[in-house]
Amino acid sequence: MAEINASIPFDKRLWRQDIAASIAHAAMLGQTGIIDAADAAQISAGLEQISTEYGENGVPVNLSNEDIHMTIEARLTELIGPAAGRLHTARSRNDQVATAFRLWVRDAIDEVSGALTALQTALIARADEYAGTIMPGFTHLQVAQPVTLGHHLLAYYEMFARDAARFDAARHRLNECPLGAAALAGTGFPIDRQMTAKALGFDAPTANSIDSVSDRDFALDYLMAAAACALHLSRLAEEIVIWASQPFGFVTLPDAWSTGSSIMPQKRNPDAAELIRGHTGRITGCLNALMMTMKGLPLAYSKDMQNDKPPVFEAHDLLGLCLTAMTGMIESIDFVPPKMRAAADSGFSTATDLADWLVRDCNIPFREAHHITGSAVKLCEARGCGLAKLGANDLAAIDPRIAGRKLPDLSVEGSVSSRTSYGGTAPERVRQQLAVIKQANHR
Ligand code: ARG
Repeated sequence: MAEINASIPFDKRLWRQDIAASIAHAAMLGQTGIIDAADAAQISAGLEQISTEYGENGVPVNLSNEDIHMTIEARLTELIGPAAGRLHTARSRNDQVATAFRLWVRDAIDEVSGALTALQTALIARADEYAGTIMPGFTHLQVAQPVTLGHHLLAYYEMFARDAARFDAARHRLNECPLGAAALAGTGFPIDRQMTAKALGFDAPTANSIDSVSDRDFALDYLMAAAACALHLSRLAEEIVIWASQPFGFVTLPDAWSTGSSIMPQKRNPDAAELIRGHTGRITGCLNALMMTMKGLPLAYSKDMQNDKPPVFEAHDLLGLCLTAMTGMIESIDFVPPKMRAAADSGFSTATDLADWLVRDCNIPFREAHHITGSAVKLCEARGCGLAKLGANDLAAIDPRIAGRKLPDLSVEGSVSSRTSYGGTAPERVRQQLAVIKQANHR
């Protein structure tokens, strides 16, 4: 029973938050006269001492104190005697754990937000460096149209900006204090929930005592945001894996972010990127674990809910590692522009530009232009040349409406610099967008 029941082996991570909540609760009990001011002061001093002890030596794990709440109370009793027994007046472990865990998740969100900002900063710096560097853009992992590396990197910036917004929204929603809901029904003691909420930095107390102790949406919100963020990290990681492989050779990972092989001396493996991709599976699994834990629970608290913490802790630790490693890789990865430039030339990546020119300059409907361009590509394949090598006569032979026209610039440079539409890949657009992003981040 002790083993299956205990959560202290993992919920000891809540000690700071649990002590903070208890100090706020004790102060409120003293202030409202529910307990003597002298007892409140003693409790508070004892809790401060426990905080110092745990900070220095960690939390002692002893299964006879099944969770962090009982572990702290037991130590408080050792330190101050019977007054410790007054701390649990007008509260229950149900509102206590809901409060401590919310505080923990709030701190976790603040950590992730900082890490996301660092990653976004790294992406901005590299995008700035390579705003005009040409690479192939892909669809179906087939060369589609040339783009700039800066534009490609800013695509990830956008994803991480949405992730940051999801974490912000999660933080905003969780910032109500469940303390004072007691077991589930509230309490008959004249508690001041506004006071404890304020002391703990919450915007307000929660409105419904049953919901307060039953709700784990704040943890799910965190995990949903974490899963979305991990998913984006995994896509970027996958690109690094592909780009670092020899047939691509778009990037070289520095020694610090690659590993060798125990048998093949020449290897530089992108292990960190692969592990980010792999950890995403685990983070998503954590979200699923908590959703499955919650889906069948009647109101209010059930002990199943004790299982809310391991997946959140696991996801948070993994996400932190992934964000830090990705930031390190983005900061230091060596891009290889000549390889990217050469690849951009393959696959007739400017075929759309030819079709667009036929529409714009020759007044040919797009569907026909698409067909004519297809014939031009076939001709190039037969000759083993690129589209830019075709002459006016070659094209006029395919369709007479082209006769006598000056052909467009079908180089990848010409293609990229023509894509000036809002949100497009032209270097000048990318630089404008970088300026907008920097301005916004400055505010
Ligand atoms: N260790 C428990 C948890 O994490 C604390 C709440 C216990 N409440 C109860 N009614 N047994 O959920």
